[in-house]
Amino acid sequence: MKKRSLAVLLVASVAVMFLFAGVYATQEVPDNVVMDSKVFPKHKKALVTLSHKKHNVDYKIPCADCHHVYKDGKNVWKEGDEVQKCDACHTEAKAPKAKEGEPKLSKQEKIMKYMYSAIHENCVACHKAAKKADPAKAVPTKCAECHPKKK
Ligand code: HEC
Ligand code: HEC
Ligand code: HEC
Ligand code: HEC
Repeated sequence: MKKRSLAVLLVASVAVMFLFAGVYATQEVPDNVVMDSKVFPKHKKALVTLSHKKHNVDYKIPCADCHHVYKDGKNVWKEGDEVQKCDACHTEAKAPKAKEGEPKLSKQEKIMKYMYSAIHENCVACHKAAKKADPAKAVPTKCAECHPKKK
């Protein structure tokens, strides 16, 4: 009896392991991401590296602070779900300046459509808040701190 339940437990845990392996095998969670979106035909600025793992583990930022899928205004993305690139939804490069007499896009409209606005809102808004909370923190908030001069 004891032996049998042990065997059942073993089979069950192996099955669970395969299940998780299946989930994780589909998409690797990168340690670092060199941000290089194809929506920008040419990068004017130096590429930025996001210390992806550090942000999650050391800086304790939950995945869903950065990854989202909205349904009825709520973020329904959860860990284990597929992650799409930001530019899959924020599909255009940068909002053009409004011409004389044209209505200006709101901040929200820019974020929705343009990768430039979405990514800077994500990275820079959090960094500014972190710096405000602790001015001694080494969080990049200025252009050149993230985009060092191109070599
Ligand atoms: C916290 C880091 C960070 C800061 C600060 C920052 N950026 Fe960026 N910037 C990024 C990231 C990440 C991207 C997305 C790059 C990609 O995916 O290709 C980006 C994209 C860009 C792009 C479009 C790509 C290119 O190279 O042409 C420009 C232009 C740009 N940033 C200019 C600026 C300017 C100007 C400032 C200051 C007002 C600034 N950035 C501040 C992180 C930052
Ligand atoms: C600080 C913000 C942030 C946090 C926290 C974060 N990510 Fe990311 N993640 C990103 C960005 C930005 C990218 C690059 C997306 C792109 O290139 O458009 C990325 C890329 C990924 C990718 C690769 C997607 C691809 O197609 O290349 C996966 C998978 C992923 N993240 C999963 C996770 C998981 C799981 C967690 C939590 C354990 C997490 N991320 C935490 C911002 C974050
Ligand atoms: C599946 C489509 C989709 C993907 C992928 C996606 N977004 Fe979004 N994003 C949206 C939608 C829709 C909204 C508007 C949500 C609202 O306000 O109702 C939004 C809103 C935002 C906002 C403003 C609200 C907030 O959550 O702070 C930022 C910033 C943002 N996205 C950045 C990113 C970044 C960075 C990535 C990649 C790591 C990303 N998005 C990937 C669809 C997407
Ligand atoms: C929700 C908050 C948050 C978001 C979103 C976020 N960061 Fe950060 N980031 C931090 C904090 C906090 C630190 C500094 C932690 C410390 O030094 O204790 C940091 C530090 C950094 C640093 C310097 C140290 C390092 O790890 O390389 C870079 C570069 C950086 N972030 C890039 C980015 C980029 C690029 C994005 C957007 C794709 C981003 N961050 C999004 C919170 C955030």
